[in-house]
Amino acid sequence: MTMREKVQVREVGLRDGLQMVQTILSAGQKLEWCRRMVDAGADQIEVTSFVPPKVVPQFADAVEVARGALEIPRLHAAALVPNFKGAQRAFEVGMRKVHYVLSASNEHNLKNVRRTTAESVDDFRRIVEERDAGGGTRSIALGAGVATAFGCTLSGRVEESTVLGLVETLLKAGADEITIADTVGYANPGQVRALMRKVLAITGDVPVACHFHDTRGLGLANVIAALDADVRSFDASLGGLGGCPFAPNATGNINTEDTVFLLESEGLDTGIDIDALASIREMIASWLPGEPFTGAIARAGLPKTFALRAAEAV
Ligand code: COA
Ligand code: ZN
Repeated sequence: MTMREKVQVREVGLRDGLQMVQTILSAGQKLEWCRRMVDAGADQIEVTSFVPPKVVPQFADAVEVARGALEIPRLHAAALVPNFKGAQRAFEVGMRKVHYVLSASNEHNLKNVRRTTAESVDDFRRIVEERDAGGGTRSIALGAGVATAFGCTLSGRVEESTVLGLVETLLKAGADEITIADTVGYANPGQVRALMRKVLAITGDVPVACHFHDTRGLGLANVIAALDADVRSFDASLGGLGGCPFAPNATGNINTEDTVFLLESEGLDTGIDIDALASIREMIASWLPGEPFTGAIARAGLPKTFALRAAEAV
């Protein structure tokens, strides 16, 4: 009997998805979303973002959501932090996984976090020091994300050498994981295959994830390209919610249901139950009237032949 190869799908709907929506969900609703995702097999969730409530009011409850998430059995909760202060708050609450993000495009970084990319790199070094100084909190995994890695709505082209240079710097600074993000949906499969091969050539044992947006319809094609380059971890958002409030015309992340469908169809094991995702999606949609939800599986359903895939892999 052959085991199917595992692939990770990390839910970012509660963070990337919610930072764009108009309705503010309660902490209770967010935690219910988390619990049900874990039951569906999606146990890697970015549960909140430690930003000033003035900047993103949706995350005014970050501490409450983080605390609640840490109590959910089997949930591997992560939080996004855009700066040193955010990381301090995440460490204080007891997060075990913290995702720091900076942009390869200096212009996007200035707009997003009001610092140059170089200043954000310095902040990352301080965050690593703070983590390491924490003694008992040493087991915190600190991921570093490079946003606008495939191009930027503000500055246009982003050179591969810029992204690779940042990856090297972040690794040297102590990143435990690297995420390469197409924040504005500029990437195409050829570009993804080429860049991700080069990224994986320098990351060694450090895990690498891709974060795609489906702004121009190439999100899932980019997943296939990243698989070709041996990436086995992907961010996705339930119902395709999301976008970056600081990047013009950004739209949602790749849709979790469709991403799981694609990966499973490729013979990979996500551990996630797509039917369960569909019912969570219905629940979230009822909480967020008027928000755009995307997804081909939600529209058309799974093919009858889909159930055969696991049996065929045996
Ligand atoms: N959480 C809570 N409060 C924070 C904070 C954080 N992560 N970072 C800064 N603050 C507070 C400071 O304590 C300070 O408060 P005070 O006025 O009471 O002293 C105030 O905010 C300003 O601090 P400063 O360091 O000058 O921040 P800034 O105004 O330069 O803003 C960011 C920088 C990073 C906080 C802001 O640009 C931001 O939140 N960006 C994130 C945007 C985002 O979420 N993008 C999408 C995800 S990639
Ligand atoms: Zn994003």
